[in-house]
Amino acid sequence: MTNQTATYLAQPDDVHRVLLLYSGGLDTSVMLKWIQDQYQAEVVALTVNLGQPGEDYDVVTGKARQLGAVEAHVIDAREEFARDYIAPAIKANAVYGLGYPLFTALGRPLIAKLAVEFARRSGCDTIAHGCTGKGNDQVRIESTIATLAPELKVIAPVRTWKMGRDEEVAYAREHGIPVKGGSEVAPYSIDDNLWGRSSEGRWIEDLEVAPHDDVFQLVTRPELAPDEAQTLEIEFEAGVPVALDGERLGLVELLERVAAAGMRHGVGIVDHIEDRIVGLKVRDIYEVPAAAILLPAHAELERLVGTIHQNQFKAMLDQKWAYLVYAGLWWEPLRTDLDAYMDAANAQVTGRIGVRLYKGSARVVTRQSPYAVYDAQLATFSESGGLFSQEASPGFIELWSLQSRMAWQVRHRDQG
Ligand code: ARG
Repeated sequence: MTNQTATYLAQPDDVHRVLLLYSGGLDTSVMLKWIQDQYQAEVVALTVNLGQPGEDYDVVTGKARQLGAVEAHVIDAREEFARDYIAPAIKANAVYGLGYPLFTALGRPLIAKLAVEFARRSGCDTIAHGCTGKGNDQVRIESTIATLAPELKVIAPVRTWKMGRDEEVAYAREHGIPVKGGSEVAPYSIDDNLWGRSSEGRWIEDLEVAPHDDVFQLVTRPELAPDEAQTLEIEFEAGVPVALDGERLGLVELLERVAAAGMRHGVGIVDHIEDRIVGLKVRDIYEVPAAAILLPAHAELERLVGTIHQNQFKAMLDQKWAYLVYAGLWWEPLRTDLDAYMDAANAQVTGRIGVRLYKGSARVVTRQSPYAVYDAQLATFSESGGLFSQEASPGFIELWSLQSRMAWQVRHRDQG
């Protein structure tokens, strides 16, 4: 019927029972009905809990059933997300562009992997998602499904149904789908999980407009943050945070507590222009309180225990890791290869970092590690002797600068 641009896309005849990745928002609620109407198909709704703050999952599944889902499931994937996605990201100091810690990019492959598992278990032939045709998320989700489950088909109704927000609201009204917050002001487009929150749309698309206060739903605006600083003591073992202020915590809880402290102190606001995989440049407002504290703390400790050679080299691999993940290639073997290096480099990243939070800033103030490549005795200005002989330095300088000095002479000999 329609011409097929990818083999994994469903033709109408393929679609009998659909696993829908359901958030409870307008797009996927309209979709839940629309798929039943359009394909005469059954819909199984799946909602994945990655730690979206303030989400009521009973309400979400109730809504799915009310809209005709034959089954409605919630999976609490917070532990898996923290352990298998966020921890590797911390070890890789993962940031894309000028400050995006990849929370959405890390979440999508896990959501899609869980969709595949659930689709197989509940006898679905097709997976449906609510991504648009302009974003990175469609790439991350569909490449995961096509990689892990070549037998499953995909539909992405938002890409094809040609409804704008007004038509969707009309469709919702017509089909008895509750619309949150009326239809007057379009809401921001939000995505969030344990590792951060993004807002897109509305005035954010006007690059000349400074952020409106109402976009910040997590982080206190720095100008309203407390006048007293707070210092967090974060303890790492092999690159992973394991304790906060002397208390050992599971990773999910640790992330939540660090985020709460960051939010209070206005830490983790990022106003980001981003080069998407699909060519567009887009502006995102990010609130990433946990990442804005833990990533610099980890990087600090890693630099302390690594040699100059390791530190320079790892930064290049970190950048490659972040790009692969951003670009939707989580399942690419190079990412796993890089993880092996990340684990090796992080074997010594054990110790404590103190981070002071104050009105929007998170600044490392103390460091301690049994593996630090550091000797306070050697580093002092006044002392000489022992391993470090200051008298030997001129000999080093002569050899170290030899090629540079020769090249300088060659380039200047004709200039008189
Ligand atoms: N720009 C970020 C990314 O590509 C965040 C995307 C948020 N996704 C969303 N559906 N609102 O990873």
